[in-house]
Amino acid sequence: MRLKGKNIVLGITGSIAAYKAAYLLRALKKEGADVQVIITPAGKEFITPVTLSALSNRPVISEFFSANSGSWNSHVDLGLWADLFVVAPASASTIAKMAHGLADNMLITSYLSTRAKVMVAPAMDLDMFSHPTTVQNIGILKANGHIIIEPASGELASGLIGKGRMEEPEVILEHIVAHFAASQILAGKTVLITAGPTYERIDPVRFIGNHSSGKMGFAIAEQCAQLGAKVVLVAGPVSLPTPQGHIERINVVSAGEMYEAAVSRFNQCHFAIMSAAVADFTPAHSADEKIKRGDADLSVQLKPTKDIAAQLGSLKRNDQILVGFALETQDETNNALNKLSRKNLDFIVLNSLNDTGAGFGGDTNKVTIWHKSGKMWPFELKSKTLVARDIISVLVENMQ
Ligand code: CTP
Repeated sequence: MRLKGKNIVLGITGSIAAYKAAYLLRALKKEGADVQVIITPAGKEFITPVTLSALSNRPVISEFFSANSGSWNSHVDLGLWADLFVVAPASASTIAKMAHGLADNMLITSYLSTRAKVMVAPAMDLDMFSHPTTVQNIGILKANGHIIIEPASGELASGLIGKGRMEEPEVILEHIVAHFAASQILAGKTVLITAGPTYERIDPVRFIGNHSSGKMGFAIAEQCAQLGAKVVLVAGPVSLPTPQGHIERINVVSAGEMYEAAVSRFNQCHFAIMSAAVADFTPAHSADEKIKRGDADLSVQLKPTKDIAAQLGSLKRNDQILVGFALETQDETNNALNKLSRKNLDFIVLNSLNDTGAGFGGDTNKVTIWHKSGKMWPFELKSKTLVARDIISVLVENMQ
């Protein structure tokens, strides 16, 4: 009974593989999960709701309204009830609707309302699966942090042979079990994260800042919270909403404020991840009034800010893990490794501005992670959500 107490929505769509969903449903029930089936109108052409409701012990939901009863099915309640939202089989059409929010059936409205992790097991003909549109749509789902269970290769319903056959129910079941087992790996841990830029005040209307969007740090915060951690997110001026979960957000503006917030909270943290792009210099004096335009040259004298990562490195206990970031444009590895030892970090995450798609602003990043032992993990270009997941898995793997 590895899934006892877990609420799972099982979405079934119009595909020959819908019959396999019945096996998956039975396996989920055997493991103790409570399963609510939502079937699309096309799904009902392939498998009858009677079978599914008998196996799940619950009425199968398909329509917005229950026939003759004058009541409606609440997609919001269902979405929030779920601990995991599985779509298996996921047809090309449902994947497209999920990718673009086309909420024309009960499955998609529930999907859009859920806060649970989403797992998708595609099933379609090989040409549909390799069509650029499907590839792009699956890419969107991956970027949204969904788990895609890659279809297997083999003989398809069309008689063609290739990739597109939904993975076997017992394999999907193991993905689901593994997901729940891994999902609370940071329970009981507190993670301090700095994110975003800092603004250093020149006068009441001007500042020195940088292009950091905060997306990388917020994605890390979200991942940590999803894994059961308590997160203290010290955020510079960014316009991002606080991700779901147990996250205490402390908004700061300047490097000095970020330093105070991070240093004061470090003691209670097991991990500290320094993803902020902290200003290295701040005006030595900030003007009380707006500086007026004049004909003469104007120079603003700058003084160095305090290095937050280096300070935490000097305070660090043996049971704390400190992670820094390095954004480099030249001699990347040497510069990163230098920072790793200079700041007494345990890990450094290097992103090079020379890699297309990496760095500030965008939704993707390409990183290499170094451990102080010299061990190194290179990663491909991927969405910041997935990069966050990679970073956390490296930390978790190396947790004593
Ligand atoms: N960092 C910090 N406080 C600062 C400056 C940097 O905590 N005042 C952290 C960053 O969050 C990052 C790491 O230190 O995790 C490296 O930042 P980076 O700006 O690349 O390093 P610097 O020490 O500023 O070196 P340089 O700008 O010369 O490359």
